This record gives sequence, structure tokens and C-alpha cells, in this order.
Amino acid sequence: MLIYRRVERLADSNDLIVDIGTKDGKHLRNIPGTTIGVDLELNYPLQSERTSYIHADGRRLPFQDDSVDYVIMNQVLEHVDGRQSLLREVARVLKPDGVSLVSFPNRLGLNRPHGLPRWLSMAPKSLGVHVARRLLSSEQYDYYRKFIFPLSPVGARKLLSEQFHRVEYITVDESSCSTDIYGDSLGSRLFVFSLPLIARLSELRRFERAFEALWPYVGYECTLPASETTAR
Ligand SMILES: C[S@@+](CC[C@H](N)C(=O)[O-])C[C@H]1O[C@@H](n2cnc3c(N)ncnc32)[C@H](O)[C@@H]1O
Repeated sequence: MLIYRRVERLADSNDLIVDIGTKDGKHLRNIPGTTIGVDLELNYPLQSERTSYIHADGRRLPFQDDSVDYVIMNQVLEHVDGRQSLLREVARVLKPDGVSLVSFPNRLGLNRPHGLPRWLSMAPKSLGVHVARRLLSSEQYDYYRKFIFPLSPVGARKLLSEQFHRVEYITVDESSCSTDIYGDSLGSRLFVFSLPLIARLSELRRFERAFEALWPYVGYECTLPASETTAR
């Protein structure tokens, strides 16, 4: 959510915005400009009527070089085997002053993707697969083995820096915090209630690194070298 909200604020009506791994496109509804949702599987009812959808692999994007203003990847990187190819493609299609926004669950954070035990994301993939085979149902195990490649902020920064000149951590943003994301239990409500304060704290330089390392979700804004001279 965080990065979709950010593009809602940054983009204008002339921009081309590509959302890789869009699923049902529901987060694109309020983004200005031309929005295109790309996904390997488009088998959900599509939720944004003003969006065009393309059935494609993010590792082979059907766009020309230097043609896209914003590329969004929300909770996609951790599902892709071959992240370097994906990021190379993103860098290829982005305009020189384009921006890519990336967010994924932090393998060091205490989130619990797809009902897996929390600590499993911290294990190396090979150990994770071994343990998953014993702990999970065969369907869950198959999903874990094929589609989950946990990623930490350290690993992500390394990968992103191979393609992008500037990789900036996006602090926790209260606009992306709601019971829709965290659930409706009393604990979640209290948590969401305290999020505005947490969001302020995460903006303080001295806390930012700690949030990046440990917050359940990580977000980055990435730009190519030329953007240094082209202020957006
Ligand atoms: C967890 S969903 C995220 C959906 C959406 N971005 C959101 O934030 O609600 C991950 C999506 O990425 C898609 N996906 C995985 N690998 C992909 C690839 N190589 N190219 C395009 N889409 C991919 C999956 O099909 C799935 O729809």
C-alpha cells in the first residue's frame, strides 16, 4: 500500500505507470496517468477499470527502453526466482528520470507471509524447504518451494544497487496503515492507533536504520543516475 500511495502523490496525468505483479490491480484505482498492470497470472476479477492489463513475465517486459515513468513492485520481489533479470528489465524500461518503487516483506521482520511459521523466512532457502516439507501441508509446501524467496533489506539493497544509482528507504507511512492490512483484533486496532507516532519515529534519522532492519515490510524508492540532474 505504502508505495501505491506514494505514486498517487508523485505521478501526474502525463505519466506512464507500470505495476509488475499487479494481481487484480485494485491499488491502481486512484493513481493518475496511464496505468498498466502486468502479471504472470491474470485470473482474478480485475478491480481498476481505468487500467490496461498485460499477461507477461516481469523478467521480459513488453515495453520499449526508456519509456516508463514509474515502475511499482509491491510484494513481488520475494516471489521471483531471478530477481536480477527482473530488476535489469525495470532499469531498461524506466525513463532516465523514472522512479521504481519496491516493497516486500522483510525476512528479518516478524511477519508471517502465507501462514508460514515466522522464523521460517529467516532460514536459508534450502533449510526452509527442508523444514517446510515436514511442517506444511503439501500445497503450502509446494507454494513455499516454488514461489517464496525471502529477502532481507541487506540483500535487497545489494541487488537494487546493481541497477539503480540511488536506493532510498521509505519510512513507515501512516497513510498505508489500516486495520485492512493488520486485521481487526483489539491488538491490531491498538497497533494501528499507535502507527502515526511510529511513523513519526521512523522518520528520525537515528531510528531509520532500525526500522529498515526490523519493520515487517520494507520499501525503497530507486532512481537511475540521470535522475540526479532531473528534479521530479
Ligand atoms: C503477493 S501478489 C502482489 C499483488 C499486488 N502487487 C498487491 O500489492 O496487492 C504477487 C503477484 O506477483 C505476480 N508475479 C510473480 N512473479 C511474477 C513475474 N515474474 N512477473 C509478473 N508477475 C509476477 C503473482 O502472479 C502475483 O499476482
